[in-house]
Amino acid sequence: MNNITRRTVLAAGTAAGLAAVVPARARPHGKIVIITGGTSGIGKAAAKAFAAQGAKVGFCGRREQLGRQVEQEIRAAGGEACYIRADVRKPDEVKAFVDAVADRWGGLDIAFNNAGIGVSAAPHDLTLEQWDDVMDTNARGVFLAIKHEIPHMLRAGHGVIICTSSSAAEQARPTGAAYTASKRAVQGIVKAAALAYGAKGIRVNAILPGTTDTAFVRPPGIPDDAWAKFKAAYGPLNIDGIERMASPEEIANAVVGLASDGFGYLNGASVVVDGGATAGRRMVIPPGFPGSEQ
Ligand SMILES: NC(=O)c1ccc[n+]([C@@H]2O[C@H](COP(=O)([O-])OP(=O)(O)OC[C@H]3O[C@@H](n4cnc5c(N)ncnc54)[C@H](OP(=O)(O)O)[C@@H]3O)[C@@H](O)[C@H]2O)c1
Repeated sequence: MNNITRRTVLAAGTAAGLAAVVPARARPHGKIVIITGGTSGIGKAAAKAFAAQGAKVGFCGRREQLGRQVEQEIRAAGGEACYIRADVRKPDEVKAFVDAVADRWGGLDIAFNNAGIGVSAAPHDLTLEQWDDVMDTNARGVFLAIKHEIPHMLRAGHGVIICTSSSAAEQARPTGAAYTASKRAVQGIVKAAALAYGAKGIRVNAILPGTTDTAFVRPPGIPDDAWAKFKAAYGPLNIDGIERMASPEEIANAVVGLASDGFGYLNGASVVVDGGATAGRRMVIPPGFPGSEQ
């Protein structure tokens, strides 16, 4: 990661932090950015972060009302953004979305292929429909986005693509067969694309967020105070290292940083941004034995 450590990237949770990580000349001012899954969570935070740095941001998602809302929020803050409804599982919609963003502003500089869903079920309980939906969204969706982004980047002779995998690609759960498989597939696609296009000026990398405070992990309808209590207990139990969930802005700022020219030698990599959770595993000594805390 050049001379910027992963710890520094993790610390970049604020505009000031981001400014410290990304030198002014490398920021995305005027760049054309495309994001899949920008209607909420990490993608929405990334759309805002890129726009706040002066980029033109085209993003998609299926929830039209939310998409328009995010577009308005960015414009109201003085940024440039365009929401286009597209479902990443549908090849024609992905192509139309990518081409529309490139045609609107005259090319593509940065792509953040981020749309994703999860499902939680033991392998024998997973339905074929659930398996297909997760793979079609998370893996095929990333493939389709890259397939249609690359021709624009090849024409320009440069580009940066970052795809959202997950720390779950490295650490499976008993109920995570489809999700972990889909996020490992993202890493596979990223590695192949990095080899295919690196010498043509296009860098392709995966980001592996750890648990992040979005609708992806927050049960629907849970009140704010109950959610705050859950998070306070969840962090120390599950996230070795920083001991709290990431905010979507912290992951988004890492994406903006990795997309900058300062990371020009980063290609085919899987960048874990999980507060340290996968760096190790807490050792629990059975109570009553030497070293036990109880
Ligand atoms: N939150 C975490 O703990 C965590 C950790 C590691 C990785 N991730 C990954 O981060 C990415 C973003 O998730 P998030 O946490 O920000 O959750 P989120 O708020 O649920 O965001 C998911 C985004 O993906 C979009 N999306 C889902 N299916 C789509 C489809 N078929 N076509 C187009 N867009 C689609 C959603 O938009 P619409 O619903 O409007 O279509 C939404 O914008 C996902 O790939 C997820 O796997 C999340």
